[in-house]
Amino acid sequence: MATNRTFTMIKPDAVEKNYIGGILKMINEDGFKIVAMKYTKLSKEQASAFYEVHKERPFYGELVDYMSSGPIVAAILEKENAVEDFRKLIGSTNPADAAEGTIRKIYAASIQANAVHGSDSDENAKIEGDFHFKATEIFA
Ligand code: CMP
Repeated sequence: MATNRTFTMIKPDAVEKNYIGGILKMINEDGFKIVAMKYTKLSKEQASAFYEVHKERPFYGELVDYMSSGPIVAAILEKENAVEDFRKLIGSTNPADAAEGTIRKIYAASIQANAVHGSDSDENAKIEGDFHFKATEIFA
């Protein structure tokens, strides 16, 4: 059954280009409530651990370097059917394939520097949210 939370990161490329405000506006206007948020920078160790599921992929090393290259915004978002609705809002991983009006279509630069992360399942949303936030940092 779908839960009502997902996890996102605004990635280093989008932060660098000053897109934080525009992306958060789209998130709020789509009906998501921000229940936790942090402006932070991942160490290489943290980025490696967060993306460990991709460690056999050829792009893993570059992904870890990129995700630890500059500050990010991490957030937990709440809405009914959050995981699926957020994946619709952000669009395909590769911005070249992303639908018009999606966050990645508007803000992403490439398949790697794709502006935002969105959890792909309820289970991962919980794991990823817990990776970044303590219970006392979540305001439901
Ligand atoms: P994300 O949704 O955060 O999940 C895994 C990330 O790996 C993905 O977004 C991209 O940033 C990156 N990624 C996925 N596929 C590729 C690829 N083919 N080449 C480089 N990076 C990729």
